Amino acid sequence: MKDILGELEARRVVARAGGGTRRVEAQHAKGKLTARERIELLLDEGSFEEFDMFVAHRCTDFGLEQDRPAGDGVVTGWGTVNGRQVYVFSQDFTVFGGSLSETHAQKICKIMDMALQNGAPVIGINDSGGARIQEGVASLAGYAEVFQRNIMASGVVPQISLIMGPCAGGAVYSPAITDFIFMVKDTSYMFVTGPDVVKTVTNEQVTAEELGGASTHTRKSSVADGAYENDLEALAETRRLIDFLPKSNREKAPVRPFFDDPSRIESSLDTLIPDNPNQPYDMKELIAKVADEGDFFEIQAAFAGNIITGFIRIEGQSVGVVANQPMVLAGCLDIDASRKAARFVRFCDAFEIPILTLVDVPGFLPGVAQELGGVIKHGAKLLFAYGEATVPKVTVITRKAYGGAYDVMASKHLRGDFNYAWPTAEIAVMGAKGAVEILYRSELGDKDKIAGRVKDYEDRFANPFVAAEKGFVDEVIMPHSTRRRVARAFAALRGKKLTNPWKKHDNIPL
Ligand code: HXC
Repeated sequence: MKDILGELEARRVVARAGGGTRRVEAQHAKGKLTARERIELLLDEGSFEEFDMFVAHRCTDFGLEQDRPAGDGVVTGWGTVNGRQVYVFSQDFTVFGGSLSETHAQKICKIMDMALQNGAPVIGINDSGGARIQEGVASLAGYAEVFQRNIMASGVVPQISLIMGPCAGGAVYSPAITDFIFMVKDTSYMFVTGPDVVKTVTNEQVTAEELGGASTHTRKSSVADGAYENDLEALAETRRLIDFLPKSNREKAPVRPFFDDPSRIESSLDTLIPDNPNQPYDMKELIAKVADEGDFFEIQAAFAGNIITGFIRIEGQSVGVVANQPMVLAGCLDIDASRKAARFVRFCDAFEIPILTLVDVPGFLPGVAQELGGVIKHGAKLLFAYGEATVPKVTVITRKAYGGAYDVMASKHLRGDFNYAWPTAEIAVMGAKGAVEILYRSELGDKDKIAGRVKDYEDRFANPFVAAEKGFVDEVIMPHSTRRRVARAFAALRGKKLTNPWKKHDNIPL
């Protein structure tokens, strides 16, 4: 009996060693942790339960039958994050470069199936050279099996991808289907085809970092939602994000203890809006002052800064925030901002996370590039996302809400539940100057007359009361009481039930 126990332990030691000391040292030398070290940091101490530690590939080509490492380049199983269950897979770059074989894919599929059945998030730690070259089409089949599960799990359980090494070919498409992608600066890359292939086909010369590094994907392509300094920080932040999310669409997000008075008065907000309507201010200040303990988990911080998206808690409950940022492009909506916010709104709606919308928007960004780039269709994504969302929606207009952008930003007409405005709000078809130039074109030569017209327009429309008279704004509130009003609004909406008409699925303008 003792021998048998000993054999198990011996086999475990071999499996845990992955690709061996030399390759583990190489991994560490690059500033990367191993697959198992990452799981240990991600999960609560001692909570990891492994599956399929002894699974080995079945490939007999290229002499691979001589080399059948236990686990086949991916560590899979489940554990907890702050006591809540998650499923996890972590690719082991020290075993065949973390490349995906048929059996490697089967291990991932097994935990994904279990996550879906049991209603728990899937966290994928990706560090992989892509399809296992020696296995050919069997490996491609394995990828497609994973993709199909990613698709079925979308909107059912949260899926988070950590990119912690080179990810090429098939290794990028599974993350692309998941809800959030986080990269590690300088050690992770994502591309469909790498720099060498690009050079051969298009004759473009580009480095791996330029083509698919963390900076590229968080600032330019928007493929990734965040980038961190190292593995440690990425894993710690993933734990923080998990705390905001429900385990599945069958449950509500967890309610955390809070030590911040929901009725907290913030007198400083009464002077947040500058006297000059064209002067910017930092919308993040308002977000921090509304949130429990000022805690804000921002999504896509480095992309489309004219709109802010992320999670806060109010009275311990998760809330998704979408806010125009006057400091960037005056807070205009454009193609990038619309796409960014639409995807965020849809995530919140899929997982029953209420949405707080903070509005200061002068309109859609005019320009040839925007029109040719399809701002009509991209802007419509955000409009669509807000209009179809059935979660509680609370909106606060702090200053400008002009034109189509007024409609889009969770207006009353798109089933906003509580639509508040500060006394500084200006709700109109457009700004005074633009409006007067169209309405009184014949008077444009007369500066005094035009100034009078502008003043008249401002007196009439540069306030929230016209909208409030019509009931499009439910209440004009004092800025200092925003946290209390918003908290009470969400509390009043906890029993909200709203369903859309039956359909197979919608046809959002993609
Ligand atoms: C099998 C692989 C491999 C792969 C790497 N290895 N990628 N083995 N299949 N795809 C092995 C290497 O042989 C090596 O083994 C070890 O992993 C580490 O690789 P290195 O090249 O030494 O590491 P590094 O210099 O860090 O470079 C990493 C890399 C590079 C950038 C990922 O290995 C690379 O370019 N690999 C191929 C990438 C690729 O083209 N994949 C196929 C994509 S097509 P030893 O024994 O020496 O440690 C695809 C199709 C799916 O994925 C499409 C679905 C839609």
